[in-house]
Amino acid sequence: MIVMAIETACDDTAVAIVRDGHDVLSSVVITEMVAQERFGGIVPELAARAQLELLTPAIEQALAEASVQLTQIDALAVNNRHGLLRSITVGVAAAKALSLALNIPLMPIHHIEGHVYSALIENPGIPWPHVCLTVAGGHNLLLQANSHGEYQLLGRTLDDAAGEVYDKLARRLGLGFPGGLQIDRLAAKGDPNAFALPRPMIGDGTCDFSFSGLKTAVTRLVDDFVDASKPIPAEDIAASFQAAVVDVLAAKVLVAVRQVNSSVVTVTGGVAANSELRSRLSKMGPDHDFEAFFPSLRYCTDNAAMIACAAHHLGIEHAAGINEALDASSNAPLGNLGVLYSSKKQRG
Ligand code: KG4
Ligand code: ZN
Repeated sequence: MIVMAIETACDDTAVAIVRDGHDVLSSVVITEMVAQERFGGIVPELAARAQLELLTPAIEQALAEASVQLTQIDALAVNNRHGLLRSITVGVAAAKALSLALNIPLMPIHHIEGHVYSALIENPGIPWPHVCLTVAGGHNLLLQANSHGEYQLLGRTLDDAAGEVYDKLARRLGLGFPGGLQIDRLAAKGDPNAFALPRPMIGDGTCDFSFSGLKTAVTRLVDDFVDASKPIPAEDIAASFQAAVVDVLAAKVLVAVRQVNSSVVTVTGGVAANSELRSRLSKMGPDHDFEAFFPSLRYCTDNAAMIACAAHHLGIEHAAGINEALDASSNAPLGNLGVLYSSKKQRG
């Protein structure tokens, strides 16, 4: 079955064509960075306008790269829950129009559920249940994924998501976009012990997170250098900051693994692209009896292949009819969970 998936949660316009959930024929991601660079962050209205402008070219590119005609698409999947409402609405409207025009089913998928499934794109044999750490700019969760669409929340951020703090620090240091990647590169050249930064909630025995205190501490550190008219040691600050984030994320994974006695951990979302997090959890696994799985970098940050993979496992083959009533929402419960779990900023 050939599925076209559309993902427009935030500032990335993503379209993928995937056969049977795992055979990625194309995965196109176009990011509108000019407005971000100019305004120092994501402006929701500009992000939505960019989605409107870029979605048709992204669809055309995805079809061309997959060597697939529109008429060969068997079904559509779209993120309709979680992210910036105006951006999501563009993707949902396009998916509904295509569904109607082609007379094929359309399956709605939760953005975070897409991230959970991103680990399975290249590793369909990952066993269930498994622990999933999913961390990005708009969410920061630890879940036990029990079976397809069945989750248990182990912990979440009580304030900021780690990716959001990466982005904030990158802006403060005057680095370009994407912020997390820039800090990651800078950190590789710095000393992680140069500055003592807080590791909030690291030893409290829960799977919850809090990154706002770290955000304040690292911002103050930069301010101190600016106020003293001293050069900012950006590499050492980035390395010390990254060490603090990775210490916390790794410690919480260990709490989760012990709590639910799991031997498999998937790490997903934009922050899963982080080099230090990948290396730390991969090394820790054998000593603590778990194996960590990471998607390839291109499936960590927002992409539509993860939406197609989720749709495959959640039953798109049995989806019937055209979903005329399909709605869009900036945040909605994930799977069987009855409550909302994004960080306060709602970025997607
Ligand atoms: O999954 P994603 O594309 O969008 C959301 O769902 O939020 O994640 C984007 C986030 C950004 O906050 C970005 O700074 C972070 O992922 N990120 C990274 C790295 N690459 C992207 N954070 C740390 N290290 C990286 N290498
Ligand atoms: Zn995301």
